[in-house]
Amino acid sequence: MERIQLSPELKLSRLVYGMWRIGDDPDTSPKHVQAKIEACVAQGITTMDHADIYGGYTAEAIFGAALKAAPSLRDKLEIVTKCGIVAPAGRHSAVRGKHYDTSAAHINASVEASLRDLATDHIDLLLIHRPDPFMDPDETGPALDALVESGKVRAVGVSNFRPWDYSLLQSSMENTLVTNQIEMSLLATEAFINGDLAFLQERMIAPMAWSPLGGGSLFKPENAALMRVLERIAGEQEVDPTAVALAWLLAHPANILPVLGTNNIARIMASADAMKVKIDRQIWFELYTAALGKQVP
Ligand SMILES: NC(=O)c1ccc[n+]([C@@H]2O[C@H](COP(=O)([O-])OP(=O)(O)OC[C@H]3O[C@@H](n4cnc5c(N)ncnc54)[C@H](OP(=O)(O)O)[C@@H]3O)[C@@H](O)[C@H]2O)c1
Repeated sequence: MERIQLSPELKLSRLVYGMWRIGDDPDTSPKHVQAKIEACVAQGITTMDHADIYGGYTAEAIFGAALKAAPSLRDKLEIVTKCGIVAPAGRHSAVRGKHYDTSAAHINASVEASLRDLATDHIDLLLIHRPDPFMDPDETGPALDALVESGKVRAVGVSNFRPWDYSLLQSSMENTLVTNQIEMSLLATEAFINGDLAFLQERMIAPMAWSPLGGGSLFKPENAALMRVLERIAGEQEVDPTAVALAWLLAHPANILPVLGTNNIARIMASADAMKVKIDRQIWFELYTAALGKQVP
């Protein structure tokens, strides 16, 4: 598995495993979570993507229970987590409504809770989950710098930020924001043309792609025409169509890191085949135009 250097201190596996749906798995026992992590590690997928809010602030602890049961796993992994969304659930049940909080106090409290729940003494990469329209960059930026300085967090980045949000936060920081995790897939192609990806490429910042299979929508009947193209290419290259959809992201020169969401161990393994799929320019455009449902102008 290829690894991508996001900063001098941090390399992530090219394919990342996401924990948004960990609580949807009928089996959330430490043993089964450990089996999924080990299936990832066996494929070289060592980077685990979390957020404090996943599962209503419960997902990190499900993962942490597996790490407590198998502590030797921690050193094989890079742990990514996010903060900044506050919703009336779990430890935030008392809040009146969903909002964003990028204050220093909230970020610090969130990191402490994540460290405890994930059963780790450091987070490899902390992301601000969504751009906060009430953000004071002169508070948020130094708070992130201080977390890196403390060693609790190895590197920091953002998620779902537009270029101007990114520049604003970066302008108040000493550390470099090392990634932006945004939605990209054959069913979410806007970033390829709206400037989001171009902004990151210009700065040589590798983006992470969430919901790389459209959250499973790729397999729904309304996307059957696109699926037929994926299946044909998959047949030619002797892989699963999932691997072709992921390879479409990997082929792009921006060094995209897709974040997988499956709870199915066989699909984790099939996803790793994406690394061997060959996508040339014509195949890339064949899939892109099949996704758009029309030729490029
Ligand atoms: N930063 C953000 O704002 C943000 C937002 C959303 C997600 N994320 C991150 O991105 C990760 C991935 O998101 P995602 O779960 O939406 O990713 P995804 O990989 O696009 O979708 C995963 C879903 O697709 C289903 N699926 C996969 N292969 C399938 C197949 N061959 N046939 C039918 N269904 C299939 C999976 O079901 P099975 O489990 O049955 O395989 C699962 O429900 C999350 O875990 C999270 O870490 C970040």
